[in-house]
Amino acid sequence: MTSKTEWLNQDPGLAKTLPSKYFYDEAIYEVEKQKIFLYGWQLVGHKSELSKPGQYMVTELFDQSVITACAKDGTVHAFHNVCQHRGNRLVSERRGQNNGLFVCRYHRWCYESTGQLRAAPRSERIRKFNPREIQCPSVRVEEYFGFYFINLDHNAVPMAEMYPGADETIRGTYPDLDSLKLIDEQDVIVPANWKVIMDNSIEGYHFSLSGPCHVELGRLIDFDGYKLTARDKWWTYIAPSNLKVRDPYGVELSDEPDPHDKFFNIGLWPNNTFYHFPFSKFFATFVMIPTGPEESILRFGYYCSQNPPSHVTQASMRWMNESLGPEDIELNISTQKGLRSMGYDQGRYMIDDDRSNESEHLVHHFHKLVYQSIHGE
Ligand code: FES
Ligand SMILES: [Fe+2]
Repeated sequence: MTSKTEWLNQDPGLAKTLPSKYFYDEAIYEVEKQKIFLYGWQLVGHKSELSKPGQYMVTELFDQSVITACAKDGTVHAFHNVCQHRGNRLVSERRGQNNGLFVCRYHRWCYESTGQLRAAPRSERIRKFNPREIQCPSVRVEEYFGFYFINLDHNAVPMAEMYPGADETIRGTYPDLDSLKLIDEQDVIVPANWKVIMDNSIEGYHFSLSGPCHVELGRLIDFDGYKLTARDKWWTYIAPSNLKVRDPYGVELSDEPDPHDKFFNIGLWPNNTFYHFPFSKFFATFVMIPTGPEESILRFGYYCSQNPPSHVTQASMRWMNESLGPEDIELNISTQKGLRSMGYDQGRYMIDDDRSNESEHLVHHFHKLVYQSIHGE
């Protein structure tokens, strides 16, 4: 593969995959940081986690760390997690609740939930020191379908413009998004490039062909009705549930399933995925956070408006954490190893225009976005 446009302009039906170096090369990873992630919307959490004054969350991306916090008046603010005195990081935990003040552990400079400096010990002795002139630099924050996202680029395109129609699609399928509460969040370190994990999640080609949990997933859905649809910076992969199933996730259903129940997944460029499993009531997040060219944190977040979640919902979460998730993670790890082989560079996309459920067209679409970002202006 030679020129830039040559890869991009391939006929999808004949196209060869992204060369393997895109999945491990240090220099490419550095370009992805700059051109994809420092301009990308990153999930923080659900609005219920930032609805009370003093609640805060920390989002880390490479060497950057951002606090998103709920202020006294209920407004939500995002700012860099760094003390403006000598640069100490203010907080380290993923979530927390304080009295509306972030106090630096070093010399006890004290910040409001907006990032504004309130007070600094002994500063009255210092000439021309006005706390009101000192502020942890703000970061863009937006709420979209009930979740908060941040963007390190002040000029980022608003989410509604970047992902037009995603909000309606997700709300149309899952109307109680506003009443979700966090049930569980697990970070798993996966020794694989973030795109290896994404690729695995956006094709159904492997469902009936890989491990037993995938075969089981294929049984829970109407696989023939599984549709994977690309829409520029976002994509969906949705199947009706197989309503004949009475024993999903190893437990018996106690109620009649909702006839509109679905296996619903939506991805927002570059690395945010939200999904819902058949018969379950959870709404989950699946975010691959790059921590190196060949390592990612896979963050599994589970939200639900039922409290406590039904036995089927709990069983479906267990199944994801203990069965389907690990089965995919093993594939991701062994793919990452294979991509390093001197015996591999590019494969063929298995794109089948007549069978969305078994086609890799979304993988191709995603790779094009990656390629354009890396090589574009
Ligand atoms: S570094 Fe934070 S108060 Fe000194
Ligand atoms: Fe999978």
